[in-house]
Amino acid sequence: MSNFSTLTEMAALARKKLNKGDWDYLIGAADTETSLRRNRAGLDSWAFLPRILTDVSNVEYSTELLDQRLRIPVILPPIGSIQAFTDAGAIDVARAAAEFGTLQILSSSCSPDFESVAMEVQGPRIYQLYLTGDEGWMDSQIDRAIKSGYRGFCLTADTQVYSRRERDIVKGYLPQQAREAIEANGGQTMSDQGALNYQSTMTWETVRHIKGKFDIPLMVKGVMSPVDARQCVEAGVDVIYVSNHGGRQLDHSIACIDALPDVVKAVDGRRPVLVDGGFMRGADVVKALCLGATAVGVGRFEALAVAAGGYEGLVRALQILEREVAITMALLGAATLGDLNPELLQRQEGATGHQYLSAFPLLDENYFT
Ligand SMILES: Cc1cc2nc3c(=O)[nH]c(=O)nc-3n(C[C@H](O)[C@H](O)[C@H](O)COP(=O)(O)O)c2cc1C
Repeated sequence: MSNFSTLTEMAALARKKLNKGDWDYLIGAADTETSLRRNRAGLDSWAFLPRILTDVSNVEYSTELLDQRLRIPVILPPIGSIQAFTDAGAIDVARAAAEFGTLQILSSSCSPDFESVAMEVQGPRIYQLYLTGDEGWMDSQIDRAIKSGYRGFCLTADTQVYSRRERDIVKGYLPQQAREAIEANGGQTMSDQGALNYQSTMTWETVRHIKGKFDIPLMVKGVMSPVDARQCVEAGVDVIYVSNHGGRQLDHSIACIDALPDVVKAVDGRRPVLVDGGFMRGADVVKALCLGATAVGVGRFEALAVAAGGYEGLVRALQILEREVAITMALLGAATLGDLNPELLQRQEGATGHQYLSAFPLLDENYFT
């Protein structure tokens, strides 16, 4: 079911369909949720300064990442427990990515697992692994991902330990997969604890080890500092991914859109730079492109869309996002991605309340219910 024609309706439909536990797991963030709000506030604080009288009768916005064509400069980030939002879980995202023409980064903590998804759906994909074992275990996972045809490998570096998400804690909420793991474990609390310990042992040596041993492009997700961005380039990391995990890990971090310009400067065109954190609309995407991003990740957008309408919902949402990108570029006087640059942006006071759903102000007025 993909019977929505605006992204606001998509968000409203998702909210209607999800129970409170799953909804809060999706939109919630760490501690005071300041990083989450700052992501949106950062995006809202960049305003366009359009150019006029250029021929925009044919706007071109498709691009490439790791030799894969992206129909729009947007990718689908890893979402753990995506099966909480749509029964088919990662399969729905895989099908939508293949049908629309974008890249899915598949989380190791969702179901079906990476090998089942690869068998079920053709298409280029990247595998994001949380370390829940030692180096030998990690190597065998990377080996299996390569054998399953994954085109890239993603290390998420901002999850050394799991944060405190109060919406989930107060309700004792656990996503379905975690519940099942506990049941399978005879009711004992998670292997999760072990998982988090391995994550916290990850260092630059881990990066060097992967680059030295495997012939698969490596993406590091969670880069916020230009110092780390430069070090990624020096260590041979193939894609630099600016992210604060959608505000779900370190609270009170700067907005990802505000981390982007310095990272782009440090990388200096030597690698593609991705960014996520609060991106919901075509105009948000175009702002990141103006500031030098190669492509933008849309995390909660992806989950809202599958919650609203399964894989068809995600395809529909991406089509609407595409229209928004095309219209924004045309109205900016930009016919190609090469026409987008920082001079098309200025800092302004944000125009809406700085909260996660400020991308959908009409929701607050119950406009769609
Ligand atoms: C429900 C949920 C689960 C997530 N699970 C993962 C994960 O398994 N691995 C990961 O690297 N990032 C994970 N993230 C972070 C996203 O990949 C992405 O960085 C973030 O959602 C971007 O912010 P946005 O939601 O504002 O777009 C998750 C985010 C959400 C909302």
